[in-house]
Amino acid sequence: MTRDANLKVRVKSAKGRKLSSTRWLERQLNDPFVREANRLGFRSRAAFKILEIHEKFNIFQPGQCVLDLGAAPGGWSQIAAKYVNSGQQLGQVLAVDILPIDSLSQVESLQLDIFQEDSLDLIREKLVKPEADIILSDMAPSTTGHKSTDHLRIIALLENALDVTENLLSDGGIFVGKVFRGGTENDILNRMKIKFQIVKHIKPKSSRANSTELYVVGLNYKK
Ligand SMILES: C[S@@+](CC[C@H](N)C(=O)[O-])C[C@H]1O[C@@H](n2cnc3c(N)ncnc32)[C@H](O)[C@@H]1O
Repeated sequence: MTRDANLKVRVKSAKGRKLSSTRWLERQLNDPFVREANRLGFRSRAAFKILEIHEKFNIFQPGQCVLDLGAAPGGWSQIAAKYVNSGQQLGQVLAVDILPIDSLSQVESLQLDIFQEDSLDLIREKLVKPEADIILSDMAPSTTGHKSTDHLRIIALLENALDVTENLLSDGGIFVGKVFRGGTENDILNRMKIKFQIVKHIKPKSSRANSTELYVVGLNYKK
């Protein structure tokens, strides 16, 4: 590892390590959001995305019940837990992922594949209220490198998150979901516009500029 004149960390390629892994490592070491996430004890740099979304739309309130889909390693859940458990009020954060999530203070976790048949029942059993006040989905599949396949897989996850939302979000509730620009996102937005009074999208500053990722926010769910 060396530093260039701009103090940028350069990682030398190593035997047995793929070029893509070397580039990933270099990007992580030079990313100010990664450094800041480590400093603040956040599980992921993604925590800054939900912070920015909260700052813009004021989504979290003390005492709320939050369902976080695709939550591992737990950055979004950490932020949600901080806001819904502030003051006297205790809320609930239920973090769901296909991967295990290391335990986090004031966060319950549930390991499941959102596509499995009994996922809705398993989530419902864990919620302290019949319906969640907020549903978040930062779900993303592991990428294949084939652009249109990846896009379809991402859309399938978002559609599934909306199915969960239509079953488990309370009247007046909020949905935040990850979407990638790629052609079919308008169908998703149209579906959301029927169900939410207000639908906005946001590209947080902490979302990498070269990523097509953006987030849709649905406010005031009409049950
Ligand atoms: C970008 S990461 C989420 C990061 C998280 N928001 C954070 O702040 O730490 C996307 C997550 O979606 C999860 N995921 C992908 N497919 C899933 C599925 N079918 N069911 C549940 N989770 C899934 C992945 O395992 C991964 O942990």
